[in-house]
Amino acid sequence: MSFLEITDLHVSVEGKEILKGIDLSLDIGRTAIIFGPNGSGKSTLMGAISGLPGYEITQGSITFKGQDISRLSVDERSRLGIGLSFQYPPAIKGVRLRTLLETLSRQAPDKITEYAQLLNLTAYLDRDINVGFSGGERKRSEVLQLMMQMPDLLLLDEPESGVDVENISVIADGLRIILEKEQPISRRKRSAIIITHTGFILDYIKADIAFVIMNGHVLGCGAPGEIFEEIRRDGYSKCSSCFAEKFCEEYKGAL
Ligand SMILES: Nc1ncnc2c1ncn2[C@@H]1O[C@H](COP(=O)(O)OP(=O)(O)O)[C@@H](O)[C@H]1O
Ligand SMILES: [Mg+2]
Repeated sequence: MSFLEITDLHVSVEGKEILKGIDLSLDIGRTAIIFGPNGSGKSTLMGAISGLPGYEITQGSITFKGQDISRLSVDERSRLGIGLSFQYPPAIKGVRLRTLLETLSRQAPDKITEYAQLLNLTAYLDRDINVGFSGGERKRSEVLQLMMQMPDLLLLDEPESGVDVENISVIADGLRIILEKEQPISRRKRSAIIITHTGFILDYIKADIAFVIMNGHVLGCGAPGEIFEEIRRDGYSKCSSCFAEKFCEEYKGAL
């Protein structure tokens, strides 16, 4: 049994079927990338795994650490170790970032100072969450929240979008700490699914497998760098490795 096992997952949003039978599995200590054109259902998949309201699972299952989580509430899933960084992080007026960090923390309190420094967010700790933050600051604030939460499964929805190059490397430093990238793979206890549009994050974080989602289906999987190169060169419609579903089992077996 994999750490995360998604089987024949169908998800509807406002009565419209968006995910049409997703199969995806991820082992402990692994990082997966999700590619896919706009509107293909990538954020919907993250929402369905995290249990956000509005994503109705109509068929299939999501099993995490051996437990079917598809009927659990978002807070139950969070307590089990699932953490999400939003594509579009909301602003929350009246709640300071520090208060949220203290509430969700599974870390020693002095880690707030250390990790805020790492992410250049010290001056933002006593401001309302994301209120008046730039796109890049919001994304760094998401990573800071994850660093305090230390979830076992990280779901990162376009963590580098709207972030300048200098800060992408800062974000990646934070993510590498959570994912224990300095450890050999057999010792890592956390896994991640990263949605990336630009692929920039691949320059900083080594990923083990990539899945391509189109029109609510997983169409293929393979080596992240190779698939990304092909998408960049030829676009999704001519990307033959994007459609190489037959290689998925073989590829996963070799991991
Ligand atoms: N809250 C929503 N209400 C209506 N339609 C939605 C909602 N969320 C997503 N969708 C639709 O679902 C499809 C997939 O969206 P999404 O998962 O955000 O795609 P991606 O992240 O791959 O760009 C799109 O057609 C989008 O318009
Ligand atoms: Mg999206």
